[in-house]
Amino acid sequence: MQKQQIIITGANGQLGTELTSALRARYGTANVIATDIRHPAVETNFQLLDVMDRDAVRSLVTAEEATTIYHLAAFLSASGEQRPQQAWDLNMQGLLNVLEVARETGCRVFWPSSIAVFGAYAPKTNCPQNTVTQPSTVYGISKVAGENWCRYYHDVYGVDVRSIRYPGLISHTAMAGGGTTDYAVDIFHHAIRGEAYTCFLDADTILPMMYMPDAVAGTIRLMEAPSTAISIRTAYNFSAFSFSPKQLAATIQEHLPEFSWYSRPDFRQRIADSWPQQIDDRQARSDWGWKPRYQFEDMVGEMLSALGAHITT
Ligand code: SER
Repeated sequence: MQKQQIIITGANGQLGTELTSALRARYGTANVIATDIRHPAVETNFQLLDVMDRDAVRSLVTAEEATTIYHLAAFLSASGEQRPQQAWDLNMQGLLNVLEVARETGCRVFWPSSIAVFGAYAPKTNCPQNTVTQPSTVYGISKVAGENWCRYYHDVYGVDVRSIRYPGLISHTAMAGGGTTDYAVDIFHHAIRGEAYTCFLDADTILPMMYMPDAVAGTIRLMEAPSTAISIRTAYNFSAFSFSPKQLAATIQEHLPEFSWYSRPDFRQRIADSWPQQIDDRQARSDWGWKPRYQFEDMVGEMLSALGAHITT
């Protein structure tokens, strides 16, 4: 395995927390520097870094002789709708700063895109890799623009930048925050505490989702694939399973029959309604061997056990 020196931005977030642990297990803690704008609860090989400060990004990359940046710092879909200008500034300028530093230093970049690139005109099922996007959120607009910037930096400057369109990610280590798919994490915490849950999406809203271990494994697999295998330099469709709040709650109730929940849709319903229900990720499967390990029911069982439920399986 080639020696890696990795910098992760937004390392305190839901994905950053898990990706940091997985990359450290693989490449060694000393070779994976976690960064964020706030200190984490427990600090290991951590540095404060604001991605809006290009000089600071460049200084860190140069000082650490970084080979790869995982640039995760961003606003998500729901928080982006509440602060559109700030979301655009952070999501775009942060990415351009990282891409520029990568161009100058020759390091590689991973950047997360999202199913939020798709809007009302994209097919709801089997949503293809290449189709009309026209997103309906600031977050989605920033992801479409970002994908095109990534491809531009690859094609014009030769930067090895790779990206995935994540579905909703479900995990038990760090909380989700600011997204439209967050209900699928929050609901477990309520169920475990024996509390009723009020879901902010309609009971029948089906969205693409993935269990975090698959998301992390797929991301590392993409980054370790030979450059010749990567035919998509915008971002790959990436999929595992899809479900609605009603289906998730019913499966939780199979383990925890007392669990009760309600649906009270808010502004996030409009966002969810604009996204596909299911994604065609054949390109990722054929280019670099993507295959999810977890089915929906496995994920529910594992989430409940990991959060401490005494469940019967
Ligand atoms: N999980 C993300 C969100 O809800 C989608 O990329 O914003």
